[in-house]
Amino acid sequence: MDLSPITTSELQTALDIAVENMVACLPQFTTSFKYSHSVKNWYQQSENVEWTTGFWTGELWLGWEHSKNEDIKRAALLQVQSFLKRIEDKVDVDHHDMGFLYSPSCVAAFKLTGSEIGRQAALMAADHLLTRFHEKGQFFQAWGALDDPTNYRLIIDCLLNLPLLFWATKETGNPEYAQKAVQHSITSMAHVLRDDDSTYHTYYFDRTTGEPLRGVTAQGYRDGSAWARGQAWGVYGTALMYRYTKNPAYKELFFRVTDYFINHLPEDWLPYWDFDFKTGSKESRDSSASAITVCGILEMVQYLEEHEGRSRYHETALKLLGVLFRTCSVKDSKLSNGQLLHGTYAKQSPYNTCKDRGVDECLVWGDYFYVEALTRASRPWQSYW
Ligand code: GLY
Repeated sequence: MDLSPITTSELQTALDIAVENMVACLPQFTTSFKYSHSVKNWYQQSENVEWTTGFWTGELWLGWEHSKNEDIKRAALLQVQSFLKRIEDKVDVDHHDMGFLYSPSCVAAFKLTGSEIGRQAALMAADHLLTRFHEKGQFFQAWGALDDPTNYRLIIDCLLNLPLLFWATKETGNPEYAQKAVQHSITSMAHVLRDDDSTYHTYYFDRTTGEPLRGVTAQGYRDGSAWARGQAWGVYGTALMYRYTKNPAYKELFFRVTDYFINHLPEDWLPYWDFDFKTGSKESRDSSASAITVCGILEMVQYLEEHEGRSRYHETALKLLGVLFRTCSVKDSKLSNGQLLHGTYAKQSPYNTCKDRGVDECLVWGDYFYVEALTRASRPWQSYW
């Protein structure tokens, strides 16, 4: 078991391979997107639907930054047009995942190339997200129609949708986007974070009074367990909230969520899909949770003093990334058209509400955050978030 930090030469090799893998995908995935997860490690083509398509475009932007390969840039810009059409026509946007969709695709296009189409699409997506804010409870509703009584809840994942709103405030001068982002994050962290520093996946509120009701899982093993990816969204989400607000409270939240994640890893440092499972379990892993956590830690270490654990957290991130590179990365595009093996999208348990989906597979966000993590670990990087 090699738990050493990823080396500089491994990072370069990993990024070069990642770009080769992307280029091999271009014939199939330029006008089509990748589906959310692979089947036996091979992605099928998808229309621009679901919450996950922005990750493939974002991966292309990362690949273009590393290689300056013009074919990659052309493909990414073409996909940005599709994102504009999607938000104009309101295709499959009855949910809160505007940041997951529009930050790595369209905000990235604007930041990297000045794309006005990207800017316009991302601002429309931010406006759409604002419509999902409930004054009663002070949060963005995650899923479903806004008048659906069974969906009056937030989910921890939404923290990653908030940077789109901070960006929109910066672009437009309208403070409402950032104000609602801050308010949502306060509500979210006040309720999803438990006393032992683990997190609920989702949290319900009363529709008429806005009072907090109860934490419930959707994708975790059980209501009271720590779903690994939910915990990871908490790591990255609190780091990003600190970046945008510089409020020290987010540092404290980050330490709690992140330390829980690190302290509950199995011996080989590749998380199971839920922290209920311990070393030796036969349950599947979620490599994407680890990739997200690496990105969150590398975001936060920029703001930490040495006495706050900067070097320790940095080394932890490089160790997690070393494990991902050595045990999960796709090193030959003939074996898979993804980047990161061994993710788990959703696994049915006796206590949750999902069916098995994308179990021990590549996940399109796992691929994206793995390449983002490599990028962050190898050089200073202007974030798309
Ligand atoms: N945001 C949905 C998921 O992490 O599966």
